[in-house]
Amino acid sequence: MSLDLERIRALLVEGEVRWRLHYEPSCSSTQDLARSAAIGGADQGWTVITDLQLEGRGRHGRPWIAPSETALLFSTILLPPVDVLPLLPLLAALSVAGGIEVATGVVAHLKWPNDVLVNDHKLAGILLEHPGGAAVILGVGVNVNQPAADLPSGATSLLALTGRSLDREPLLAAILNDLANAYDRADREGVGWIVPGWRSRSSMLGKPVAFQRDGATIRGVAEDLGADGALLVRLEDGRRVSVIAGEVERLRPD
Ligand code: BTN
Repeated sequence: MSLDLERIRALLVEGEVRWRLHYEPSCSSTQDLARSAAIGGADQGWTVITDLQLEGRGRHGRPWIAPSETALLFSTILLPPVDVLPLLPLLAALSVAGGIEVATGVVAHLKWPNDVLVNDHKLAGILLEHPGGAAVILGVGVNVNQPAADLPSGATSLLALTGRSLDREPLLAAILNDLANAYDRADREGVGWIVPGWRSRSSMLGKPVAFQRDGATIRGVAEDLGADGALLVRLEDGRRVSVIAGEVERLRPD
């Protein structure tokens, strides 16, 4: 079934962000549509949802593929305050995991900077792009109704986890409501809660990790996050390095 925007609108809570929902049955990538809208002057909250992407993309130029009408695929334009901007990857992951939990009861964990996992399998991915100016395009893909057999290795879906087909409308509304709440909270309290919130949902702190930097594989233990959202990794020789999002190609358990 294709998406029912009225049903989503009815579930959205009014807050600082005014969501403007748009629907395209298919497109190259919702990121492209949101980028054009942002360049054309669309405001924060402009959001596009699709049933099928022909050229969906993930981080580091990887493709993001989902059969028609099975996944929640959307992009939204955000104008984050300067203090939120560096923490936006963590904030977005918290809101996606929070929305999934509210709408479905599935408790997901976070892998730095913003993969949403259940049992070490990827349930949702997040892509942040900067089209120029202050706008950021937040793209989210949640695997909803893909049967386990249709998923790439290392991925999972809400259907595979719960055994039930789920509507995408309440899921999108819950994610957007969580995001709007997070914005309001950052306004009221500042951003000090974002890193602790992320830590409490993380499945990777204290565990060995390996990542590529300047062509070399670096191994260590993911110790903590810095206040700026960087991952702090204790290397085998005892040094501690700070890794920023986007800098490493593949961060994996080691
Ligand atoms: C990742 O690599 O984990 C990020 C995946 C992001 C996928 C979403 S689906 C909606 C939006 N449109 C895209 O082309 N990508 C993002």
